Amino acid sequence: MDPLKILITREQIATRVAEMGRQITSDSAGEPVIFVGVLKGAAIFLGDLVRTVELEATFEFIGVASYGRVAAGPEARLAWDSTGEVRVTKDVDQSLRGKNVILVEDILDTGLTLTFLKRLLLGHQPKSFRVATLLDKPSRRKLAIEADYVGFTIADEFVVGYGLDYAEKYRNIPDICVLPGVVG
Ligand code: IMP
Ligand code: MG
Repeated sequence: MDPLKILITREQIATRVAEMGRQITSDSAGEPVIFVGVLKGAAIFLGDLVRTVELEATFEFIGVASYGRVAAGPEARLAWDSTGEVRVTKDVDQSLRGKNVILVEDILDTGLTLTFLKRLLLGHQPKSFRVATLLDKPSRRKLAIEADYVGFTIADEFVVGYGLDYAEKYRNIPDICVLPGVVG
């Protein structure tokens, strides 16, 4: 197995997540917020982020799967609808109507997932909608979309740890590491 190389240490993550929490607290002007974490990658980030926010906060989780993984067979055509590659595998448990929603992502890569989720969640008619992503890889973007809060902007390298996986492994590693030899 290729060795992991630390890109962002657990200390750097904690410092930056606390800064993001303070920013969200001051931007929210005392209003309650609902964090919506994207499973499974954002679970650890969400857990840390919500504890740095000094607001009345609740959270939900949403699960998505990508049709992009379907390489052949009758479903293959679904992979090539420009924004329709993503489907919901676990929906939120309540309506977000009238709520201040902050979608929490592990990483913003091509933008397909976020574009899909933004459209879906705006359909709930929230009072406000913001996006917090731990990592951003702007060089990989296929659709023009940005997050309101970005932890770290990184180069086009495949990273794991702090919730991020490769084939479901490495999510529990406390630091963010580069996994050499993986093409995103
Ligand atoms: P997007 O739809 O291309 O923006 O993809 C976002 C999703 O791709 C993330 O939520 C991750 O699950 C996955 N992803 C993209 N880049 C990486 C990476 O470097 N490591 C682990 N997962 C990644
Ligand atoms: Mg993910």
